[in-house]
Amino acid sequence: MSEIVAQTEETLNTILDNLSTAVILLNEDLCIEFINPACENLFQISYKRAHQQILSNILFVNDEFAYRLKHCLKTEHPFSEHEVTIRTCNADSLTINYTATPLSQTENKRYLLLEINHLDRHLRIAREEKLLNEQNATKNLIRGMAHEIKNPLGGLRGAAQLLERELPGDNLKEYTQIIIGEADRLQNLVDRMLGPKIIPQKQEINIHQVMEHVRQLVQAECDKGIHFNLDYDPSLPYFSADPDLLIQAVLNITRNAISALEGHGEITYKTRHIRHFTIGHKHHRLVLQIDIIDNGHGIPEELIDQIFYPMVTGRADGTGLGLSIAQSLINQHDGLIECDSQPGQTIFTIYLPLENTDA
Ligand SMILES: Nc1ncnc2c1ncn2[C@@H]1O[C@H](COP(=O)(O)OP(=O)(O)OP(=O)(O)O)[C@@H](O)[C@H]1O
Ligand SMILES: [Mg+2]
Repeated sequence: MSEIVAQTEETLNTILDNLSTAVILLNEDLCIEFINPACENLFQISYKRAHQQILSNILFVNDEFAYRLKHCLKTEHPFSEHEVTIRTCNADSLTINYTATPLSQTENKRYLLLEINHLDRHLRIAREEKLLNEQNATKNLIRGMAHEIKNPLGGLRGAAQLLERELPGDNLKEYTQIIIGEADRLQNLVDRMLGPKIIPQKQEINIHQVMEHVRQLVQAECDKGIHFNLDYDPSLPYFSADPDLLIQAVLNITRNAISALEGHGEITYKTRHIRHFTIGHKHHRLVLQIDIIDNGHGIPEELIDQIFYPMVTGRADGTGLGLSIAQSLINQHDGLIECDSQPGQTIFTIYLPLENTDA
């Protein structure tokens, strides 16, 4: 019998651990009795720290909200609210749907169950799906075009070489060299547009080795007026990835930040881990989040939705390939890059699943 009880408890715990809905159990004084991992994630607080704290210590509770919760406990009538904006104690604002359900009395104690669905998260997932779909469509289009361009280009180059050999004098070689040179340039461009073909050579790495490698590389070449802030989570586990490909992705994003800063400003590297997070369609238990933040002029509004497409650039000397390459390198690791930008703050966020670790 006790074995069955233990098994049921274990199953219930597994369910609570894996729910993507944030769950909070409150007592009559609106003190926290329990939160699940999705809730830890949402409010950036551990269960240990939240336990027995009053609810207003993790989210802003105004008088009306407190009254509604207490009233719900008293009358035992559940209620729901949709698209409510709340503020966490870290001053983040979240749009949520929530349901408050009073639990039947046990040993004269009343409890209130709060189920919270983070709407920004759903919007983000829908946006990511759209981004991934659009990128796949562009990739297929480019692949098709590249194929059509590359074949005749090879013929053109070969013919120019043959012609060069037959030419009576060197003075005409200048022209065949132009054909060969331009064919090579086009070939190069098509290859870059197609993105890296390399199969990742994965090994166990720590993300901070990658970040520090890029920082040292760019710090040597950028102006003294650019300052780096490091906000690393030292507890991040090793994971399996190709360090060279990640270096390239972080480098492309960092170089853009440097160019946006025009000689003066700050770049912040921030690393964190998130539990239970969806990238595209796929749910992951543990995900690495890398933020690369700069306080430059921001991305022009008309560009923001297109920056991950190849050949999209806002710079006179840009080829517009840096971000599309970075995105495809991170996609090769089942991750995703997102961007949020306004004048004075541009954040590129890289999400990478840490599935193969047990942290
Ligand atoms: N941190 C940033 N701040 C402001 N604008 C940015 C930032 N990052 C990217 N951009 C904008 O996005 C555009 C696309 O970037 P991307 O790296 O793909 O191409 P590029 O930098 O123009 O050229 P390339 O990287 O191929 O040399 C940039 O031209 C720039 O206008
Ligand atoms: Mg670039």
